[in-house]
Amino acid sequence: MSKLRRLDQTLASLGFGSRREVRELIHAGQAKVKGIVIKDEGAKVNPHEVTLNDEPLEAPDGLLVLFHKPTGYVCTHSDGEGPTIYELLPFRWRERNPPVTSVGRLDKDTSGVLLITDRGELVQRWTSPKFVIEKVYEATVDKPLTADLIEIFARGDLLLTSETKPCLPAKLEIVDELHAKLTITEGRYHQVRRMFASQGYHVQKLHRSSFGEYELDGLEAGKWKVLERP
Ligand code: URA
Repeated sequence: MSKLRRLDQTLASLGFGSRREVRELIHAGQAKVKGIVIKDEGAKVNPHEVTLNDEPLEAPDGLLVLFHKPTGYVCTHSDGEGPTIYELLPFRWRERNPPVTSVGRLDKDTSGVLLITDRGELVQRWTSPKFVIEKVYEATVDKPLTADLIEIFARGDLLLTSETKPCLPAKLEIVDELHAKLTITEGRYHQVRRMFASQGYHVQKLHRSSFGEYELDGLEAGKWKVLERP
């Protein structure tokens, strides 16, 4: 059972507008609790029992979303480096307090599984080196792959340019001459591209097919699925 909260605070924190704006919605009779119109903005409510224009409130206890990031979008909140993933997501999610953010980032040119949430503890847990989460990347490279890469990536002594700590062991599966799957448990900056670059390969295409237990399961690029709370 959710904690009781003021009605105006509930609506504002779920992205329906500023305190002043949501009070206008409330005074206009658009909010109901168990089907009864409530015009008192200070009423203490269970967010799960509130509707706005007869629609239940979305994920009052926190939002977790599986997103298929398309290429061409950056994962930052500001648009200095091009269009952002947040432009593809419902505007209200950015207006939530706390706002949604991605769990880690994918490069602009990388597509695939990206989790989006407003739950800071999930971001912390899933990006912390203490929690081992396997991420699988499908890479297309510019020249034929050789079997020795499997051992090189698996050894756990691969040093990336300008770093002093070697990468943890990673599992490389060669799919065909130019395609491989790489499973890593870290999330260093441009890690997959830099791992291949350290061996003289240029990654031409990169797609993350899974993040821990989460997979796209046919979700199209640019689309998302709201997940049940973990
Ligand atoms: N490694 C990369 O090089 N890019 C990503 O987006 C993710 C992992």
